[in-house]
Amino acid sequence: MDKIVIEGGHPLEGEIRISGAKNAALPLICACLLAPGPHVLENVPDLRDTRTMLALLEALGTTWQREGDTLTIDTSGLHSFEASYDLVKTMRASVLVLGPLLARMGRARVSLPGGCAIGARPINFHLQGFEQLGVTHQLDQGYVDAVVADRMRGATICFDIPSVTATENILMGAVLAQGTTIIKNAAREPEIGNLVDMLNGMGARIKGRDLDTLQIEGVRQLQPARIRIVPDRIETGTFLIAAAAAGGELTLTNCDPSLLPSLYEKLRAAGVKVREERERLHVAGNGQLRGVDIKTMPYPGFPTDLQAQMMALMCFSRGLSLITETIFENRFMHVAELRRMGADIRVDGHSAIVNGTGTLRGAKVMATDLRASASLVVAGLAAQGVTEISRVYHLDRGYDNLVGKLAAVGAHIQREKE
Ligand code: EPU
Repeated sequence: MDKIVIEGGHPLEGEIRISGAKNAALPLICACLLAPGPHVLENVPDLRDTRTMLALLEALGTTWQREGDTLTIDTSGLHSFEASYDLVKTMRASVLVLGPLLARMGRARVSLPGGCAIGARPINFHLQGFEQLGVTHQLDQGYVDAVVADRMRGATICFDIPSVTATENILMGAVLAQGTTIIKNAAREPEIGNLVDMLNGMGARIKGRDLDTLQIEGVRQLQPARIRIVPDRIETGTFLIAAAAAGGELTLTNCDPSLLPSLYEKLRAAGVKVREERERLHVAGNGQLRGVDIKTMPYPGFPTDLQAQMMALMCFSRGLSLITETIFENRFMHVAELRRMGADIRVDGHSAIVNGTGTLRGAKVMATDLRASASLVVAGLAAQGVTEISRVYHLDRGYDNLVGKLAAVGAHIQREKE
């Protein structure tokens, strides 16, 4: 297993090119299952999660090839409807094949994902939604075995709370259903807009992009797609926060500055200079940081996927920050690791109070999940001394060449064998 070793205290100077979004690439890869033929996806990040999703599609009978960041996926040979436990247990987003398989094959057998480090993460919204579309399912040896006679039937579905992958799954099922489906209280994350564009480009009839009510007129069949994956707003945010912590001036290219309004507001309140341009962002992280309060919310609120990184940044401020996590019940795993670096953080239920002392000291720490790992990188870049982060495979799931990108802008960071 590899570890990341960081010598802190070196400012970040230069340009970083942002990759395509993991959380758009995963549903868009699954959406290829909806129409037989070759689909072309551009700007696809090379991540452990995208490779896992491609392995899953391969097991279902599809073929793919990658040239640079362009992926061609041919789904003509689809012959299986089973997503095995071995693949699903490593990546919960595997559940996104449920909608496309039910729509194209009328059957799907998908291993039920277990709990994960950040919370229980049930899939009841997905299953209830499909039930309303006429799907019956049973639980068999840890698998959801779902079947629909002929086609799904349009229905009105209202989620208790907006769920990103449930919205995507139901969308992918409903596009080939008979009649009209309405999804109320739908999630509005930009990655869902990317999926809507892809599906409409394939011949689907979806109205309400970026709104909390989506209307889908089912069609009989779809054509193969050609689409570009949107830039990764969480990777973008992670680098902005890293520069704010480590200091220096960083320019992020190939990004979409319109996707992170809630983050700029918080960074500016903390005293960080952020300038937005077309497809570029500039950040200057020199100066005293102030504590700011953060509450995670569904888009366009502050993203839960940046909460851990922002908490690491707040450790370098001088002042108090109240950080409240409202999306997942167990997303403070990084607190114990940040404390090992000298952070003063108190957790009470869904809230953490960070007493910023202006500095952290390097230590040996352990990555617990993807974004928690990113927060330890942020902390290590700005801490005094050396930080060693073990269990780096979590980072490989969701950041394309994180170490290489940071080293190229002046970070003293490297990957080593443990
Ligand atoms: N929920 C249920 N039942 C369901 C579905 C969700 O109770 O059937 C609850 C969840 O437990 C959670 C809330 O609803 O409390 C919202 O979860 P959501 O379903 O929106 O999360 P997700 O779709 O499983 C996606 C991202 C996550 C990101 C969340 C929130 C993908 C592949 N994953 O997960 O990304 O944190 O939305 O924005 O899109 C990450 O990239 O590190 C990551 C965890």
